[in-house]
Amino acid sequence: MAAMASSSALTLLVLTLTAAAAAAAPATASSTPPPFSCGPSSAESSEGYAFCDAALSPAARAADLVSRLTPAEKAAQLGDQAPGVPRLGVPAYKWWNEALHGLATSGRGLHFDAPAGVRAATSFPQVLLAAAAFDDDLWFRIGQAIGREARALFNVGQAEGLTIWSPNVNIFRDPRWGRGQETPGEDPAVASRYAVAFVRGLQGNNTSLLQTSACCKHATAYDLEDWDGVARYSFVARVTAQDLEDTFNPPFRSCVVDGKASCVMCAYTAVNGVPSCANADLLTATVRGGWGLDGYVAADCDAVAIMRDAQRYAPSPEDAVAVSLKAGLDIDCGSYVQQHATAAIQEGKLAEQDVDRALTNLFAVRMRLGHFDGDPRANVYGALGAADICAPEHRSLALEAAQDGIVLLKNDGGMLPLDRTAVASAAAIGPNADDGAALIANYFGPPCESVTPLKGLRSYVGDVRFLAGCTNSAACDVAATDQAVAVAGSADYVFLFMGLSQRQESEGKDRTSLLLPGMQQRLVAAVAGAAKRPVILVLLSGGPVDVSFAQSDPKVGAILWAGYPGQAGGLAIARVLFGDHNPGGRLPVTWYPEEFTKVPMTDMRMRADPATGYPGRSYRFYQGDTVYKFGYGLSYSTFSRRLMSSTNKTTFSSTTVLDALSSRETTLTEEEEGSASSYYHVDDIGTDGCEQLKFPATVEVKNHGPMDGKHSALMFLRWPNTEGGRPARQLIGFRSRHLKVGETASLRFDISPCEHFSRVREDGRKVIDTGSHFLMVDDHEMEIKFEA
Ligand SMILES: *[C@@H]1O[C@H](CO)[C@@H](O)[C@H](O)[C@H]1NC(C)=O
Ligand SMILES: *[C@@H]1O[C@H](CO)[C@@H](O)[C@H](O)[C@H]1NC(C)=O
Ligand SMILES: *[C@@H]1O[C@H](CO)[C@@H](O)[C@H](O)[C@H]1NC(C)=O
Repeated sequence: MAAMASSSALTLLVLTLTAAAAAAAPATASSTPPPFSCGPSSAESSEGYAFCDAALSPAARAADLVSRLTPAEKAAQLGDQAPGVPRLGVPAYKWWNEALHGLATSGRGLHFDAPAGVRAATSFPQVLLAAAAFDDDLWFRIGQAIGREARALFNVGQAEGLTIWSPNVNIFRDPRWGRGQETPGEDPAVASRYAVAFVRGLQGNNTSLLQTSACCKHATAYDLEDWDGVARYSFVARVTAQDLEDTFNPPFRSCVVDGKASCVMCAYTAVNGVPSCANADLLTATVRGGWGLDGYVAADCDAVAIMRDAQRYAPSPEDAVAVSLKAGLDIDCGSYVQQHATAAIQEGKLAEQDVDRALTNLFAVRMRLGHFDGDPRANVYGALGAADICAPEHRSLALEAAQDGIVLLKNDGGMLPLDRTAVASAAAIGPNADDGAALIANYFGPPCESVTPLKGLRSYVGDVRFLAGCTNSAACDVAATDQAVAVAGSADYVFLFMGLSQRQESEGKDRTSLLLPGMQQRLVAAVAGAAKRPVILVLLSGGPVDVSFAQSDPKVGAILWAGYPGQAGGLAIARVLFGDHNPGGRLPVTWYPEEFTKVPMTDMRMRADPATGYPGRSYRFYQGDTVYKFGYGLSYSTFSRRLMSSTNKTTFSSTTVLDALSSRETTLTEEEEGSASSYYHVDDIGTDGCEQLKFPATVEVKNHGPMDGKHSALMFLRWPNTEGGRPARQLIGFRSRHLKVGETASLRFDISPCEHFSRVREDGRKVIDTGSHFLMVDDHEMEIKFEA
């Protein structure tokens, strides 16, 4: 999130130790009551004011409250730590709370230090691993569980706010990005579906009372921490209209339009010279106007201050405050706006109406959270309490999510799954074998439990010899390698738990290499050379790692990617290794080779530029070699997929499209003079027209055994060529299903040509080409034609 949120490696470790020590202590019911307004027992009576009248709309109530504030009181509300207004019975409020993959202490409002209170919360897998499940029902249930735990923590008086600054739905554009782990990956369709599912879960389904408020961050095109002297605070990203429209913005659009998120956070990034938090076109015209945000716009921490300091965009603090509030910002993370808003008004740079608009947006969200309706323990979420945090169903969901995300990358000769009765002894070697910090990654709170891979392995094998072999993921030494070789030679099976940690990839830190850090590669090779049979390599990492040495080494029999798997991660890994779970995860990002690091991280272009040797980014555009491709993942079973049309409609005649165009002017446009290609503008087809063009397609999936398991089918669209920046292919849908051995399922995909067949032109406009389009599942294709 933030300047202040960035934990150094040191604080991280200290926190982690505390976290590991904090067992889920049962909390007493009689904790401090949550703060509220407008009830007989609220601190100061506010009853009788219009803002307490639940019959009015949240906006009307908020406007009434704002009208009662003095200018000084108004300015004081514009930072993440908002003071109370005792004379009106309005309590203080903490806007900044984090729950990326479980309730986290990285914000200001959530607390786990009450001696007799709640001491821990469920830690789900880091987002990139959950994304690998390609399952939006799973993402919804995770969001829902986190939202329930937040409400419960609030009800017991340990949360000073219910506005949560999650999820992070930036596109994982470059494999080196330190925060790529926090995102759903490189594909805009996956990120969009993740945003919608997670936000719906977090906010709950009651439109008149939010369970919590979710915030999609960081709009937009933010995906660089610190690379070759370029830092996120001053980076000016050059982004094309085409990339903005079909890559960076779609997750934010879905988040607001379909997920109904009540907040969007603007990023530090200056896109084409304009800092995102000062960009009226983004915040007001697009997010609020075009997408219809009903909620507030928050600035990433210190994003306003850096407009003057790091970015030199605004000459004075007052100018920075004025330009951001006028652009549509509603609240700052930090105190900069609180400090300088009054002067900005006095200097005539900012109008009081701009402040009133911001405050009305802010208080309306607090109204929708039910904080102005009397004691919140009497509302529909009021029964949630300590017993709902670390609840058994949340713990098992954390395990399920980790299992479903784990990706099997290599399995020579069907070495896995292992038969536990055949494994008399095992060696667990590597820095990530017994490190609780590697489970919970970043943005964490104290987990309910911490099952490391070593612990998971020990629940299957009696004799497990453990050696970290490295001081940490960066530093393995030669002496340890000798020891590791000795341990490896003495065991039946050798498991290596290698990978990355927050030392290499984190907030504020990008990688410079894609290889395993330090001497890890050498350690793996030495151990593999000494082991009795091929070793099993388990990678704990966020971003992709170039492990081509292990891919091609016959002494490495199997490779698993387990992300940063959350509190139950070690058990999930063991269950996969021993066949109690059949792996079905698929990579949500392209695994590039080390040579990709010659591409400047600051080059934002998605599309390749063969003339200059620029290879492009993500499976949609990248033209170079890969270590593993997007969507790759093995199973213990063989699944077949068959693409079928459930209608016979494979040709859309011009009359169909023109019908869809209803009363509009005909809009068939010629690409350019002399060109055979032509297209329709999606805007011209309109909402109703787009509705008429929809049709279903079916993918028949069969599990040929030998194990039951979950499978995700991915459907892509291919265009006849990649001219004009058309992607090589584009994911348009995915569905997952658990299938018993021999079982067949028909998975229905709802195809919307406006959404799925459209492409974005260089000018940023969305069009549907006439001519052929190909639906793809594996290498089965179905041709769909739009006639001119
Ligand atoms: C909202 O979700 C809860 C829990 O999933 C469910 O019991 C309830 O029926 C839903 N309410 C509505 C209005 O959909
Ligand atoms: C939604 O919340 C409102 C306001 O608290 C409540 O009256 C209503 O019963 C809730 N609806 C459901 C389906 O829980
Ligand atoms: C598709 O065409 C086939 C053969 O012409 C016909 O038997 C089938 O009923 C059609 N299906 C639909 C959904 O119209």
